Amino acid sequence: MRAARYHEYGDPDVLRVEDAPEPHAPAGAIRIRTVAASVNPIDWKLRAGFAKEALPLEFPVIPGRDAAGVVDEVGEGVTGVAAGDLVFGLGGVSDTTAEFSVLTSWAKKPGNWDHGQAAAAGLAATTGIRGLAPHGDLAGKTLLIEGAAGAVGSAAAVVALSRGARVIGTASERNQGFLRDLGVIPTTYGSGLTERVSALAPGGVDAVLDSAGSGSLAELVAIAGDPGRVTTVADARRAGDLGVQAVDAANESAVLEVAAQLGAAGKYTPRIAQTLPLASIAEAHALAQQSQPGKIVVVLDQA
Ligand SMILES: NC(=O)c1ccc[n+]([C@@H]2O[C@H](COP(=O)([O-])OP(=O)(O)OC[C@H]3O[C@@H](n4cnc5c(N)ncnc54)[C@H](OP(=O)(O)O)[C@@H]3O)[C@@H](O)[C@H]2O)c1
Repeated sequence: MRAARYHEYGDPDVLRVEDAPEPHAPAGAIRIRTVAASVNPIDWKLRAGFAKEALPLEFPVIPGRDAAGVVDEVGEGVTGVAAGDLVFGLGGVSDTTAEFSVLTSWAKKPGNWDHGQAAAAGLAATTGIRGLAPHGDLAGKTLLIEGAAGAVGSAAAVVALSRGARVIGTASERNQGFLRDLGVIPTTYGSGLTERVSALAPGGVDAVLDSAGSGSLAELVAIAGDPGRVTTVADARRAGDLGVQAVDAANESAVLEVAAQLGAAGKYTPRIAQTLPLASIAEAHALAQQSQPGKIVVVLDQA
């Protein structure tokens, strides 16, 4: 099969498109003909070697943590999904930017999403929803999201809003309108954040989700007044020192189903910055490494 691969750590130009062995669906998993895969921060961080101590790779590596496509193999023990179904979901730490991908968590693609939007939802929505879970019932609560215009932050924001939270979100100037359109009360990040949040929420905030990992975690704890009210998906190192709960994505179909239902209801539309063909995988990684208003998606020409 055709796949994006790299054989060593390095810049985006270590990526190439070449033949790779086809994977098959083991028990409990499905295989899809991949139509689209998104580029998440973990993909370029792994490729660059930034995580080689914690997550050493065996080369060659096919990048990609999530994908969308057409089911073509169903592993033993899997029920509720059949060949021909259109799904999106998560593979392993890598492996989805290829003609065929094995997914171990998935949900049916909402009919109002295209495959690119579905691919963009997988890891981001899973992470956002899991990052909210420790905060419990959000109805009537005020939630602050640091990095709310990002893929994870915006997914968390729409989920929290759907659960009845009042959401304050930080973003750069260019994304203030995007947040407002989601129903989030926008503010900028950086210097003076405590004062700005205090003006927007004089009674304080009940919960904080850090989806930026920008070094602001101590200030977010001070704003919340208690590290137990703060979660982060992006700063595990500082979380340990501060007593904040760090949350990671995990392959859970039930969580993807939450995202799919919000999508089908028109409440969650993953934001795409640019869509590129598989042949442009190096450019896709280079773009994703820069800050983009939305996700970079790679399409394989078999929709
Ligand atoms: N733990 C896990 O399992 C897991 C899973 C997925 C992602 N993550 C991590 O979560 C983070 C977000 O991922 P993503 O896919 O949402 O990335 P993303 O789409 O690139 O979003 C990152 C957001 O951070 C914002 N930002 C940049 N500088 C900031 C600052 N100084 N203060 C506050 N916000 C700032 C940006 O806002 P503007 O564009 O408005 O500047 C951007 O929207 C990444 O660090 C990623 O590695 C962790």
